[in-house]
Amino acid sequence: MKKLMIYGATGYVGRMAAEYAKAQGLDMVIAGRSHDKVRAFAAELDVPYRVFAPDARTAESLEGVGVLVNFAGPFAQTADALVQACIKAGVDYLDITAEINVYRLAERLGAEAAGSGVMLLPGVGWDVVPTDCLAVHVAHRVEDPLSLSIALQVAGSMSRGSARSVSEIIGAGLMARIDGQLVATPDAQPRHFDFGDGLELCAPLSFGDLVTGWHSTGIPNISMFVHFSGEPFPEGDLSQLPDGPNTQQREAHRARAAAEVTGADGTVARSVIETVNGYTYTPIAAVEAARRVLSGERRPGFETPAKLLGVGFAESIAGTTITDR
Ligand SMILES: NC(=O)c1ccc[n+]([C@@H]2O[C@H](COP(=O)([O-])OP(=O)(O)OC[C@H]3O[C@@H](n4cnc5c(N)ncnc54)[C@H](OP(=O)(O)O)[C@@H]3O)[C@@H](O)[C@H]2O)c1
Repeated sequence: MKKLMIYGATGYVGRMAAEYAKAQGLDMVIAGRSHDKVRAFAAELDVPYRVFAPDARTAESLEGVGVLVNFAGPFAQTADALVQACIKAGVDYLDITAEINVYRLAERLGAEAAGSGVMLLPGVGWDVVPTDCLAVHVAHRVEDPLSLSIALQVAGSMSRGSARSVSEIIGAGLMARIDGQLVATPDAQPRHFDFGDGLELCAPLSFGDLVTGWHSTGIPNISMFVHFSGEPFPEGDLSQLPDGPNTQQREAHRARAAAEVTGADGTVARSVIETVNGYTYTPIAAVEAARRVLSGERRPGFETPAKLLGVGFAESIAGTTITDR
């Protein structure tokens, strides 16, 4: 069987993923752009390593690899070159991005990837695995579903890498899916969602579900929101932030998302998914997705977690439950 490559393995989430994959006994190689960091971490884990930056020559570094999972964000700077290299080298591409423009890139390159027998599966982290599976779950509760709204609740502090990626997410602008098309919605308004403790006001923000939810459910109208219940968004020099929340901080803050679907007859169904902290969930979900892809659960072209791995994939990660409301 070909190997798993964890790219960006020296970052906060990439390290946890590599440690988890090693503990699971997966045949893997770690990779990243910074030679000293990658070499030291490979020695610590006792796994092989490769050092390269994402560029036009990356395909040469993918010999013997079956699945590459990209943990190197902001993904606006890494995904394009890594996706192109994977298509060239015949390697399935997975990542943990929350940046909508990366989903749009993968969707755009889906046909080309399919022609090369390669799968592009972005979003195997907390965003979008729980919400993608939740969307499919709640869509099944309504006849002829017409609209889907999803709100993420982000609890606790953010990693330095996430804080850097937020500017990519905000910079993409406000969007919604309307009648099947992704359109700019600069005047989108906040709205309330109940995550289990009463109504919370959530701000509109464009996450990957505007792409994945459409592919997974076929619902033509989708809007996305977020509620930050944790620490205020970090400001100033982001490089001075700690890597990310430690184990105790992660254990203190579980994560939730709410979804609401309205059917053609006006019926409304609401469900909530609760998971372990997003930074605990992400490395496990990403490695478990990669393990399943490596063992043959794959379809060339653009894929979504719920379509490929099933509506139950989100809840297969320990500590995750969906509740109908
Ligand atoms: N979907 C989700 O739910 C979810 C959850 C958690 C995190 N994330 C996202 O995952 C990403 C990583 O987060 P993190 O907290 O692990 O960040 P981090 O600690 O800053 O790690 C970032 C990693 O990416 C590498 N990197 C950054 N820019 C690169 C470039 N241009 N070329 C090659 N490598 C590059 C870094 O390498 P060096 O060490 O060499 O700089 C490092 O290994 C962020 O975008 C974050 O938003 C998503």
